Amino acid sequence: MRIDILTLFPEQVHPFISTSIIKKAIDKNVVEIIIHNIRDYSKDKHKKVDDYAFGGAAGMVIKVEPLHLCIEELLKSYSYDEIIYMTPDGDSYNQKYANSLSLKNNLMIICGHYKGIDQRIRDNYVTKEISIGDYVLTGGELAASVVIDSIVRLIPGAISDITSALTDSFQDNLLAPPVYTRPEVYNGWTVPDILLSGNTAQIDAWHLEQSLEKTKLRRPDLLDSI
Ligand code: ADE
Repeated sequence: MRIDILTLFPEQVHPFISTSIIKKAIDKNVVEIIIHNIRDYSKDKHKKVDDYAFGGAAGMVIKVEPLHLCIEELLKSYSYDEIIYMTPDGDSYNQKYANSLSLKNNLMIICGHYKGIDQRIRDNYVTKEISIGDYVLTGGELAASVVIDSIVRLIPGAISDITSALTDSFQDNLLAPPVYTRPEVYNGWTVPDILLSGNTAQIDAWHLEQSLEKTKLRRPDLLDSI
């Protein structure tokens, strides 16, 4: 998979792609992530990339030209399965969304800032608009990082144990059951006997029961969509 990120703040995204599972996935050629600075495409002599909103609305808007030039430059060499714009007024992001994006080959992700980007870019290029939650961040960079993290860990080869990713919370609309590791007793605190029994059928049944109970308690809305 190749992901092109368009941002005014590459330094916000860099640390994220230089650490942990994402870095390993890049090193293993599971994913290629290229960051593009929108400012590099400004034709303004002061490299200005934002301007006041027409109609007098408060806040600055990222101009159409540098985004247009950057996107067109990339389109000369690549075709994209999706051109995604990160925005709080986008579609709600969830595990199902992550699963479907993880199957794509080429993604472009545009990060907004200030009041957002000129609507004409959204109208003419963007194929998906994604919100990671009902709150407003200062820019789309953190949101893009969240989306990339959730996608890349699902690509075969990114994490050593893919079954681990497939049993995460939300994969089957259930929250994950509790997990324990050695030692069996610590500070007088014990591990449920069933997990030490070696009886895989009973352990699977226990996991499911725990998942169902937790989901009923914390996220009953998830059970409606099963
Ligand atoms: N940009 C600012 N806030 C955002 C959010 N909640 N989701 C996606 N992009 C954003």
